[in-house]
Order: sequence, then C-alpha cells, then structure tokens
Amino acid sequence: MKLKDTGLTKEQLIQDANTYMMELAARFDLVAETSKGMNIFDENGEEYLDFYAGIAVNSAGNSNEKVVEAIIEQAKDTLHVSNYPYSIPMVVLAKLICESIGMDKIFFQNSGTEANEAMIKMARKWGIEKYGEEHYHIVTAKQSFHGRSYGAMSATGQPDNGCQLNLKPMLPGFTYADFNDLDSFKSACTKDTVAIMVEPVQGEGGVYPATKEFLQGLRELCDERDMLLLFDEVQTGWGRLGTLMGYMSYDVKPDALSMAKAMGGGLPIGAVCANERANQAFTPGCHGSTFGGNPVCCAAAIAEIKEIIERDLPANAAKMGEYFMELCKSLPGVKEVRGKGLLMGVEYEQPIAMEVKHQCFDHKLLITAVSGNIIRMVPPLIVTKEDCDKAFAILKEATEAAM
Ligand SMILES: Cc1ncc(COP(=O)(O)O)c(C=O)c1O
Repeated sequence: MKLKDTGLTKEQLIQDANTYMMELAARFDLVAETSKGMNIFDENGEEYLDFYAGIAVNSAGNSNEKVVEAIIEQAKDTLHVSNYPYSIPMVVLAKLICESIGMDKIFFQNSGTEANEAMIKMARKWGIEKYGEEHYHIVTAKQSFHGRSYGAMSATGQPDNGCQLNLKPMLPGFTYADFNDLDSFKSACTKDTVAIMVEPVQGEGGVYPATKEFLQGLRELCDERDMLLLFDEVQTGWGRLGTLMGYMSYDVKPDALSMAKAMGGGLPIGAVCANERANQAFTPGCHGSTFGGNPVCCAAAIAEIKEIIERDLPANAAKMGEYFMELCKSLPGVKEVRGKGLLMGVEYEQPIAMEVKHQCFDHKLLITAVSGNIIRMVPPLIVTKEDCDKAFAILKEATEAAM
C-alpha cells in the first residue's frame, strides 16, 4: 500500500498511528513505503541504507524477488489450511531445514518467542517424564533475550530491565548464570536441572559472542549430567554468524534449537528443531499452533533459505562482518567492537548510542541501539564492501557529532 492511495499526508498517518496504536516502540521518523535489496524508501522515494534488516530479518535482501514470487505463487494455490492436512510447502520446508542443518525433527511456529516457548515446553516435558515432576529447572544466561511471552520472558536473564518490569511473577524454574562462565553455569545447575539454554551470540543483551570453550563446555556438562543443550538461534541462525546456523561456527551441536527472523525472508515464521532424544517428549496433543506451518510463510521460507544457501550468504556475512568491524575499531570514543559475522555491536565509552542512532538516521543510515552505550548493526547478508564503506562514513560522522 502506498501513502498516496490512502489520501493521507505523512503527518496525518503519524497522527493516526499515535491515536489508534498502542505505543510500545520508539519508531524511526520514517514511513517505510517500499524496500529493495539494501534499501528502504520513504513515500517520496528517498533512499535509506538498511543496516538493521527489519531487526535481523531480511537476510537475502529486502523484498527479495524470489521470496516475493514464491509468496504470490503460493497465495494463488492456498493461503491457509492449518496443521490438520498435509500442506506441501510445510513438508518441503521441513525436509530442507532438517537436512541442511542436520536435525531430526521440526515444528513450525509464528515467531521467535513462540519457538522458544515450544523449546522450553519440550525440555520441561522431557525432564519430568524422564526424572519426575520436580525436574523442570532450566539454566539460562544473564543478559540473554528469549522473547516476550511468560515462558520466554522468564527465561530472559534481564530481571531489572524494562521487559520484565511490573510483569512479575515470572514463571518459576529458571536460574540465570554468567554468560561465558562455565563455572557459573555449573554451580547454577541443581539435581532438578533438565536443560541449559543460551544464544550463541547475545544480540539484544548487547552483542556478546560466546567463546568456543564456553559452548563446548556446556555441551560436555549437559552430556555428563543428562541435560538438554538448547540454543536460541532466532537471531544467530540462517547465516548471520558466517555459518548456516550459529552452532556450526562453534563445532557444538545442541539437542534442540529455535529459529525465526531471517528464515521467512520477511514473513512471520519460526520453528523449534530437535534431535530424536529431545523430541521424545513432544507427543500428540502437548503442543500446537493454528498458523504454524502456514503455506505462504513456508513457501517464503523455502525461497529465502535457498537464496541463503545457493548464494553462500553465510560466507559473505563472515567476510563483510570482519571488514566492517575492523573499520569500526577506528571510530572515536569506542570502548569495544564486538560481534561475529554480521551481528555487530559497537560499545562507546560514553552513553551516546541513542544520539549516534539519531545522527545516522538523519544521514539516511538505519541502525539500532541496544542500550545507552551500544549500537547494533545487522544488515542484510547481501551487503557489499561499497555499502560498508558508505555506512562507515556516515557512522563516523554521526559518532563525531554525538560526542
Ligand atoms: C535471541 C532472540 N530470541 C527470541 C527473540 C524473540 O523473537 P520474536 O520477536 O520473533 O518473537 C528475539 C527477538 O529479538 C531474539 O533476538
């Protein structure tokens, strides 16, 4: 839909948004009318360089042509049938994902939060059925982010942050341990612990990559104590870290993982994938979803995942991530440049991240800030060296202006 088709001006549209919409997010002052590749365009055709990808979603580029074609073709066949019959895109996608990432089973959901919710339910049911009704405790990491439903929110190790504020009580059965500290995880485990759940790189929590020793240590710990290792790959999956799944960068395989964001190429879809061991618990009737496995979303996901694999976008993510992060090290006032692949963060010494984000916006570069001191950049995985150079020039100017 174009703004001119509504008969509204930009100001009127924003006024209607303010009048009718619950205000839960700080928006860019941008009417995002169309998008293509590395760019988003406003109602006047003004171009913005996209270094946030709809929050780490549009990996094969904004409105990727093959994804759009797949959506149109599938929409002509059927829009929705639920999980009751076999829908063709759902089964084709299940096989494509399980075979390309080496997992046994998949269940489709509509978002990352739901995928994590399913994974938490799977782990609890696995523990209770194997060891008894007290066995549902899960250790997650401080500063983690797993979503906003009560299960996913309770797993999120940010008790003092806005996302849990005045929403207590959280679901019992979660303990938060220090990320990248194996001893902290070991001591947080009790006799009732059934699983450990972490992100390979903490995204929302400030862009903190796990070390290889940490994730490998967690794998050993889970094997020794017969617990499940769960990875939240909602943000790290599908090429962003430089490998198809984040865990492949670490040579550590989880028992189950969640995915969403990039997998649908812009349509809402998520999933939990598991090996046979973890999947034992997921028996008919214990979980479900009306829209999970929706044919249009699955058709989009097939096209997006094929683009990611066939164009080897993970390799580009690794190369461009290294290039851009090296550039960022020369920015003034930087405390640390962190990340892996194209999940990148710059931590400043002073709380200027919000101002840097605003300055970048004024120069038509879209980035996000995850806290007062940290900016996060997650461009589409098709980003080129020229895009990186252009973004860096703006970022440098923005940083200088914000200091
Ligand atoms: C690691 C991680 N898990 C879960 C979620 C929640 O995903 P969604 O917003 O699709 O529900 C996010 C969203 O940012 C995320 O980064």
